[in-house]
Amino acid sequence: MNISVIGAGTMGNGIAHVFAQGGYQVNLIDISQEALQKAVATIEKNLQRMLKKEYITKENLQSTLANISTHTSLAAAVANADLIVEAATENEELKLKIFDQIDEVAPEDAILASNTSSISITKIATATSRPDKVIGMHFFNPVPMMKLVEVIKGYSTSDETTRTVMEISSALGKIPVEVNDFPGFAANRILMPMINEAIATLQQGVAGVKEIDTVMKLGMAHPMGPLQLADFVGLDVCMNICQVLQSGLGDTKYAPNPLLVNMVTAGKLGRKTGEGFYDYSHGGKELIVSKSFL
Ligand code: CAA
Repeated sequence: MNISVIGAGTMGNGIAHVFAQGGYQVNLIDISQEALQKAVATIEKNLQRMLKKEYITKENLQSTLANISTHTSLAAAVANADLIVEAATENEELKLKIFDQIDEVAPEDAILASNTSSISITKIATATSRPDKVIGMHFFNPVPMMKLVEVIKGYSTSDETTRTVMEISSALGKIPVEVNDFPGFAANRILMPMINEAIATLQQGVAGVKEIDTVMKLGMAHPMGPLQLADFVGLDVCMNICQVLQSGLGDTKYAPNPLLVNMVTAGKLGRKTGEGFYDYSHGGKELIVSKSFL
């Protein structure tokens, strides 16, 4: 089975990594050659990390890298694909454009999956002539480590497409969970209100950044506290998903907290910009004085 992954960013390189590690031939596609080179270097770094922790062998590492080829031309890279996983930027207009293009050049029976975290699969499918073969395949960051794949059935997704994607996800060593196409699906419908509430708890002065994260790490056994996780996911992504929940479900309870909106406006997006609820600018992770937000 041939896999094509569109987009070589954090999610795209992680998805290419897990398919290649699962023994599939992967074509990784991006418009930028530089992004592709960076993605392969990241995959190698993450494989080395896994080798060090003895999750994989040296042979696994080498065969994973050998299974990946990179491309800047979409048509050539999807010509023999059985499954195409799109992991481009989370922008509806862009995704509709990409699905329209893939539909033109991919084999007729290929399944077209999106790694979207919040855009409607039913809507994405309208850009194609095969809505029965369009599905959500939502991976979690860091993709090589997180077991879940949220498999999202659009309104027209066929049972056969769903079954195939559930089987492929299991073959990757992941645990797939089938959900229906509603705003935020299941994962972000639950996760983002929790993160937003943690931000409200900070904004109202109930507790500080470290205290809130400690409560959830030690009291609820979460591997990361919600504010640390928000920085990890990206505050802009968190805000966008809250807005999708608010507009899609028609309830102001999902509105992003004003502190979250302010931080995004100020360009404090978390790890990727070097600052969010914590400061990552010097390599380490320091607490930002939360009083300055209040
Ligand atoms: N590949 C890539 N990154 C890896 C990795 C791998 N194999 N293993 C670990 N990481 C990353 C972490 O992000 C972090 O990065 P830096 O080293 O650059 O700081 C680092 O490795 C931490 O690794 P550690 O070895 O110290 O920690 P760990 O291995 O014990 O656990 C973790 C790391 C798995 C990320 C754990 O902290 C965890 O489970 N956190 C929660 C993650 C989570 O909830 N993810 C879902 C986010 S929501 C989402 O993705 C979907 C959405 O739509 C928003």
